[in-house]
Parts: sequence; C-alpha cells; structure tokens
Amino acid sequence: MHIHDYEKLWLAVSLLLILSLIGTVTYGAVGPGVAMVADSEPTVDATALDEDERFAEPRVERVGENEYAAYVVAYQFAFQPDPLVVPANSTVTFYVTSRDVIHGFEVVGTNANTMVIPGEVAKLTVETDGPAEYGIVCNEYCGAGHHGMSGTLEVVSQSEYEGQNGGDGE
Ligand code: CUA
Repeated sequence: MHIHDYEKLWLAVSLLLILSLIGTVTYGAVGPGVAMVADSEPTVDATALDEDERFAEPRVERVGENEYAAYVVAYQFAFQPDPLVVPANSTVTFYVTSRDVIHGFEVVGTNANTMVIPGEVAKLTVETDGPAEYGIVCNEYCGAGHHGMSGTLEVVSQSEYEGQNGGDGE
C-alpha cells in the first residue's frame, strides 16, 4: 500500500501530539513538588478524632531544632486551634484533617493551600518569615456556613512564642 508523503507527515504529527499529551499528563502527576492529598500519611477515623493521638488535641508542637508540627482539625464551620500560633523563621508542617465533610485549608496570600478530606491527613510544610498575621479560609463548599469558615494564623517572634508556650509546644 502506498502512503502519500503528506499523509505520512500528518501521521507523524498526530503521533507526536499524542505522545506529548501523555508526557505532560505524566509530568503533571509526578513532576517536582506535586503531591497528592494524603500521599504518605496514614488515614484516620474521622468519627473518632477525640481518640486520635495527633488530633484529639489540635495543637502546635515542637518536633526539632527549629521545626514544628501543627495538628489542625477542620469542621463545620471553623478550624481548631484558632488562632494557630507558630514561631517566625521556622519550618512548620501542617497536618490537617476534617471531622465531618470536605473542607479547604488555605493560608491567604501564600501558596499554602490544600483540600481537607475526612479520614485523610493533608500534610504541607512551610517556612515562616517574620512575624505576621494571615487569614485561613475554607475554599471547598461545605454547607450553609461555608462563607464564614475562617481562622487566623499568627506568626510571632521566637521569643514571644517561647514566652507563650514555655519553650515546648502548648
Ligand atoms: Cu469548610 Cu467550606
């Protein structure tokens, strides 16, 4: 069977398009800095958070030299703890879960933003700068009070943080 040169060219071009589509989708899924919700964190029982080691008492805890873990629970229609107080110039990893429906957790004006799914733990790590106050909003529609679901993230100086927390979490 004879194939015209033009037809061969278009075959090659369409093959190239298909391959680049697969390539970009693959890159988007596994590329640098892309993490799916609860990629690495074990699941939790959303109906029994009161008995969960990390979420029974939502809090900020010191876990290293200059590293902190913030355990946050989202629920209709607020975040716990609120305000969330973390020290400046440190590394803070947020572990966020929901006790009821899907919520969002977005630190306004930053790229810290994740979906919060009951039963799963969203994890995101940020480097804090100097003292500042940020809003936290829910950006997934979660019911009648969704529009009012917000919290506060207070980044305070190291000394102020130590003063409030006796140097070791709450
Ligand atoms: Cu929670 Cu919208």
